[in-house]
Order: sequence, then structure tokens, then C-alpha cells
Amino acid sequence: MEFSSKGYNSGNYSSARPSYPSEFFDTLRKYHVGGEKLLVDVGCGPGNFTLDIARNFQFERVEGADKSPIMIEVAQQKFNAAKMKNLHFSVHAAEDLDWVQAGTADMITAAQCSHWLDFKAFQESAFRALSENGTLAIWGYVDPILTDFPGLDSLLLEFQYDLHQLGPYWEKPGRDILRDLLQSQIIDDTKFQDVLEVCNRVRDPEPKASDHKPLIINREMSIIEFEQYIESWSAYNAWKRANQGKSDIRKSFIHQLKTQTGLSSQSRINVAWNTVYKFARKRT
Ligand SMILES: C[S@@+](CC[C@H](N)C(=O)[O-])C[C@H]1O[C@@H](n2cnc3c(N)ncnc32)[C@H](O)[C@@H]1O
Repeated sequence: MEFSSKGYNSGNYSSARPSYPSEFFDTLRKYHVGGEKLLVDVGCGPGNFTLDIARNFQFERVEGADKSPIMIEVAQQKFNAAKMKNLHFSVHAAEDLDWVQAGTADMITAAQCSHWLDFKAFQESAFRALSENGTLAIWGYVDPILTDFPGLDSLLLEFQYDLHQLGPYWEKPGRDILRDLLQSQIIDDTKFQDVLEVCNRVRDPEPKASDHKPLIINREMSIIEFEQYIESWSAYNAWKRANQGKSDIRKSFIHQLKTQTGLSSQSRINVAWNTVYKFARKRT
């Protein structure tokens, strides 16, 4: 997987990616009725979100785990420095939570990684590790949209998915699962109950009215920051490795974007993502 490859810049990942808004953590906090002893964040990457949740909740212990040793190394360095005693990181696959004592995890989160997982194995493992009333929370975001420039929607989609651009470099089926907002990842109702599932498509002409707040991910950034965000994509990193010596596909995309809009490197743009979240409670 690209996130585990040596050339992947996991330091850039932390600064280039959007963060999750505090309103979303409020929604998750309201949903959660279990204890607050242990939270396990699988696929934690460089640990930024794990730190956010440690700050937004009152869990006695927070464990971030990722199967990429490179990601965990970055997370450990950063958070050793932050000296948060209740936060730990380790290398583990999400499908194998045997290192968590059965029935002790009050919440298990999988942020922007569930599409990579063997979802059946993950659910089984999570079910075993969760405590009574424990919450399973998964969410993700995909397909950035420059909200003020609808004319660029097709350019962005072509850059990401055209066969001659980044299209072949996304790992499958993960990318397709995420683009479909995790619709194929069905929560097993023999193991979980009170399932809450909310999708948000930025350009949806007729969004369904819902009692539940969607996960809104927006970020204002400069064009330079948008380029750095593209640098954090697994597909762009895979393209770079396969096309050494060729002129940078990201630069030509940004050039086209600037030509079509008249924007400069310093111009600020509003970027929004399609999102999904699914919360479920361990069946008792
Ligand atoms: C896009 S990053 C998400 C990082 C972080 N959770 C966030 O919200 O920004 C996806 C992470 O999932 C990890 N990952 C992929 N498959 C995994 C698996 N089977 N078990 C654990 N981690 C996995 C990757 O190594 C990568 O760090």
C-alpha cells in the first residue's frame, strides 16, 4: 500500500489534509452512550485525528494503531513530544484487534481508512474488542470540489480518474468503495444496532432532509496548499514512482486550473468534500 511505501511523505499528510470539525465530534459524543475508559483509533495514520479525539473526549486511554510502521513512527515522534500520557501508538492491522482485551474498548474509530479494510474481518474484530454499548464509528471524505468554481468539477474529476491521468494509480477496490461513500460496507445487524448513516454530497441538487447533521468538511486554502494536498494522495505518489523523469502531472493540472480561473498560487479557494459517516452500537 502506498501509505506504507518509503517515499510517502507522512509529515506532509498531517498538514495537507483537512481536519474533522468539532461539530462532528459533538455528534459522535451525543451518539455515544458507553464508557470512556478506552478508545481505539484504527488506521490512525500520523495520528492527528487521534490527538483531536483525545482532546475532544475524556477517554482515560487512547490507542492509535496503523498497519504502516512509517505512519506510526511519525505519530510516535509527534506525540512523544506532546507528552500526553494517556495516548499510545502501535503497529497493528485493524482486522486484528486481539491486542485489545475483549470487551474493553468503549469506542473504536476508523477515520478515512475503512475503505482499505477487510470490512467483515474488521467488524468481527471490533465486535469482540468493544465493551457493552461500545460505539463503532467510521467515516470518510472524497472527491474535493472547489465550491466557487463549478466549471472546474469536470477538470478535477478527469485529473483524478481519467485513464491517462491519475485514474490507474488509485488502489482498488478501496477508492471505489470510498467514492461510493462506503455504501458497500454494510454494518452487520447481528452484531450492531442503532445504526446511523449520513452521507453528504456537496453538489447534490436535492439533498435528502435528515434529522442528523452531516459531516461537513470544508477547508479554505491557497492554491499552493491545494498542491500540497494533492501531494498527500496515494495515487499521486504511485504516479510519481511509476513516471520518474516525466514532467509532473500535478504541475500541469495546477497550470490548467490557473489558466481556466485566472487564479494565482497565492489565491485562496474554498474546498469541500463529499462525506459519509456510520455509527453503530455493539448489540447486547
Ligand atoms: C488516509 S489514511 C487516514 C489517516 C487518519 N485516520 C485520518 O483520518 O487522517 C489511511 C490509513 O489507513 C492505514 N491502513 C490501511 N489499511 C489498514 C489496515 N488494514 N489496518 C490498519 N491500518 C490500515 C494506512 O496505513 C493509512 O495510514
